[in-house]
Amino acid sequence: MRPTCTKMQKKANRTRKIVLVVHGPNLNLLGTREPKIYGRETLAQIDARLQAAGRRAGVDVRCFQSNTEGALIERVQAARDEAVRFIVINPAAYTHTSVALRDALTAVAIPFVEVHLSNVHAREPFRRHSYFSDVALGTICGLGSLGYDLGLRFALERVAGK
Ligand code: DQA
Repeated sequence: MRPTCTKMQKKANRTRKIVLVVHGPNLNLLGTREPKIYGRETLAQIDARLQAAGRRAGVDVRCFQSNTEGALIERVQAARDEAVRFIVINPAAYTHTSVALRDALTAVAIPFVEVHLSNVHAREPFRRHSYFSDVALGTICGLGSLGYDLGLRFALERVAGK
């Protein structure tokens, strides 16, 4: 029997190393959104830098942003079929509210790091609780967009070792 496209795609993905970067709500506004807190870099600039780092390491870095919880959950679920090896995620405001997105990450069982541009512990009390930190391999916060680079560096090292 000839393999189907999906089967061939899945096989190709198993050999290709993929890291998924997920950005939650309002991060599409980076660059103009409260720049004193989140900086002046745009999401496109951050993603381009992460993808370039991935290319240097021979890893396919795929970036995804959504303002809706369901779309983020579906993207995380799809990551399992794509054989994504590692996830770097900034759940943004869903950090503090979303059991559903946390459950998606534990369901697919793909290791992940949680990133926040701002120091969530030095802001309003409601930002101090995360539904992700206890199931993440690690959390980086308060280092601006460098946090994504450091999270990806960790992911690339992990993926290289596999
Ligand atoms: C954020 C912190 C969250 O509290 C906030 O809701 C965000 C961004 C950060 O990157 O600092 O949208 O995740």
